[in-house]
Amino acid sequence: MKLLVTGGAGFIGSNFIHYWLKNHPDDKIVNLDKLTYAGHMESLKNLEGNPNYQFIKGDICDEEVVKKAMQGIDIIVHFAAESHVDRSVVDPLIFVKTNVLGTAVLLNAALGAKVKKFHHVSTDEVYGDLDVNDPPFNPDTPYDPRTPYSASKAGSDHLVRAYFKTYGLPITISNCANNYGFYQDPEKLIPRFITNLLDGEKVPLMGKGENIREWLHVLDHARAIELILEKGTLGETYLIQGEERGNLEVTMKILDVLGLGEDRIEYVEHRLGHDFRYANNGSELEALGFKRTYNFDESLEEVVRWYQENKDWWKPLKKGRPVLDREVQKGYGG
Ligand SMILES: NC(=O)c1ccc[n+]([C@@H]2O[C@H](COP(=O)([O-])OP(=O)(O)OC[C@H]3O[C@@H](n4cnc5c(N)ncnc54)[C@H](O)[C@@H]3O)[C@@H](O)[C@H]2O)c1
Repeated sequence: MKLLVTGGAGFIGSNFIHYWLKNHPDDKIVNLDKLTYAGHMESLKNLEGNPNYQFIKGDICDEEVVKKAMQGIDIIVHFAAESHVDRSVVDPLIFVKTNVLGTAVLLNAALGAKVKKFHHVSTDEVYGDLDVNDPPFNPDTPYDPRTPYSASKAGSDHLVRAYFKTYGLPITISNCANNYGFYQDPEKLIPRFITNLLDGEKVPLMGKGENIREWLHVLDHARAIELILEKGTLGETYLIQGEERGNLEVTMKILDVLGLGEDRIEYVEHRLGHDFRYANNGSELEALGFKRTYNFDESLEEVVRWYQENKDWWKPLKKGRPVLDREVQKGYGG
């Protein structure tokens, strides 16, 4: 099999590539990535010279590049996106361009290339937010995106479904909870908090840290996508559930692993459009045999240790990064 992975230099894409090549040593992967601020070649360094891996630097919005990258491809796994909610509040248009137009360009090319499968990686944030006692999202929950990020991902999901219904393109979609793991960019909540603390800074926690997220290990995410590719029904949407935790609980756990106290928390105002809670009903995926293998509390400790031991990976990223507009960057909430 030959896979085209888009956005494979990002957090989830790079972990997926490592996972796939380890578990499918006869397969070939082409990684198409624009290398935005979020794309890190360092995360794939050990694949240099691997005959089953090819990197193409290119934009998914560029039809010519995409058409070329798709030659001889059997399966597409589409991760490439602008993915940071805070950034979407500052600069929504690039989210619409990459997430909506980029996905449409890929779908069109996939149709022309007659690929066997097109898997679209999306987020549970398209469903809006939940109150504490609401039942979790399921694939029939009406879409209710509340930020430019989630609205652009919702747009991409609708396009993917439209290509199935209109043209019969063999698609599947997964809407996933928040991911955590190694190689996550230091501007996302967990790595941001860990690296701030390692740098001797405080962590900006929104509100009282009452917001709730589900957390899924990035390698459990890779396994879920593998299962959907192997056993999923074409045209279906699969929700990928994580473990629910309040943001304060996550923060306290990180502080605990590092032996630090609550005085390192700086409580800040909620950002615009900050959703209270996301939770997923993952029963369709469980019916395919999916079970999480990573326990959040144990794995979070490992992730903290990884950032402690891999300062060479994240320090240059944090240093060279312009700070987001302070109006929006009142803090990080997920
Ligand atoms: N991180 C999460 O917790 C989470 C949860 C649910 C769903 N998702 C979805 O999973 C996917 C991957 O998320 P991530 O956290 O790895 O994102 P990321 O921001 O770490 O990586 C995105 C990658 O896409 C590349 N990219 C951006 N624009 C591109 C373009 N126009 N052309 C080609 N490449 C481009 C970037 O260079 C980067 O390598 C996204 O679609 C995101 O919406 C993420």
